[in-house]
Amino acid sequence: MYKILTLNNISVAGLERLPRDKYEVASEIQHPDAILLRSFNMHNWEIPSSVKAIGRAGAGVNNIPVDDMSKRGVPVFNAPGANANAVKELVVAGMLIAARNLCQGWSFARNLEGEDNEISKQVESGKKHFAGFELPGRTLGVIGLGAIGVQVANAAHALGMNVIGYDPDITVQSAWQMSSDVEQAAGVDDLLSRSDFVTFHVPLVDATRHMINEERLHSMRDNVVLLNFSRNGIIDDEAVVKALEEGKVYSYVCDFPSNLLKDHPRVITLPHLGASTKEAEDNCAIMVADQVSDFLENGNVRNS
Ligand code: MLT
Repeated sequence: MYKILTLNNISVAGLERLPRDKYEVASEIQHPDAILLRSFNMHNWEIPSSVKAIGRAGAGVNNIPVDDMSKRGVPVFNAPGANANAVKELVVAGMLIAARNLCQGWSFARNLEGEDNEISKQVESGKKHFAGFELPGRTLGVIGLGAIGVQVANAAHALGMNVIGYDPDITVQSAWQMSSDVEQAAGVDDLLSRSDFVTFHVPLVDATRHMINEERLHSMRDNVVLLNFSRNGIIDDEAVVKALEEGKVYSYVCDFPSNLLKDHPRVITLPHLGASTKEAEDNCAIMVADQVSDFLENGNVRNS
């Protein structure tokens, strides 16, 4: 019997891939053979020596001490691409929410009070104040052209946007998936200087931490919209607050809570909802449950 410890809620669709006659699955279990998790932070948590494999039901593995696990010969499996559609949809929503001032408009409308005449006047002033802009013809810069970045690039292109992409490690497969109308930028700085919207789809590693800092924000177009559905830390929050005040950044849509940013009227913070759809959760859980069971039962290592 294999013992599987779950450190977060893992979708039932994934757990059903582990038959009860071969697997014991629980959120508390002694001497687990494998661990399944989402965003539980494993750094500073003692990983039992019995563990032979770890399955991360998501794309990012920065919550797992991957190097230590490699030294122990423990593969870390993730689910590349399994939640790409969910993230893509939220990036598109984020662009529209920012361009059309939807959060400000929503908050304005729900606070309207008074007689019909008075409300009509306020509606007129709201329409003027919250007038936005449209996406066709605007340029989206996509930093990171893995499964998610490529889907975002293609969706933006379908909406009539010009799309520039950049990824230092772009693979032939990614290039093939990209629409031929998505232009590859010469580098991050080239992309930043030409984009009206910039979206980030890179992992948080030393090379990407605070990749967007004060200097880079200054090099961007005025009124740029930034979208971060990747990892907190890629963009320097303090520098963004300054850039919002200076009119450099029009809006920042960020899929993480932030005390520094949450009260700013042109910042939209979310509780890491990018991959939170039933479909994405099922896809990720199925992908990692299959990889972990294939490893435990047959010694096969795929996608780690
Ligand atoms: C990911 O890296 O894919 C996400 O963080 C998944 C999640 O929300 O658990």
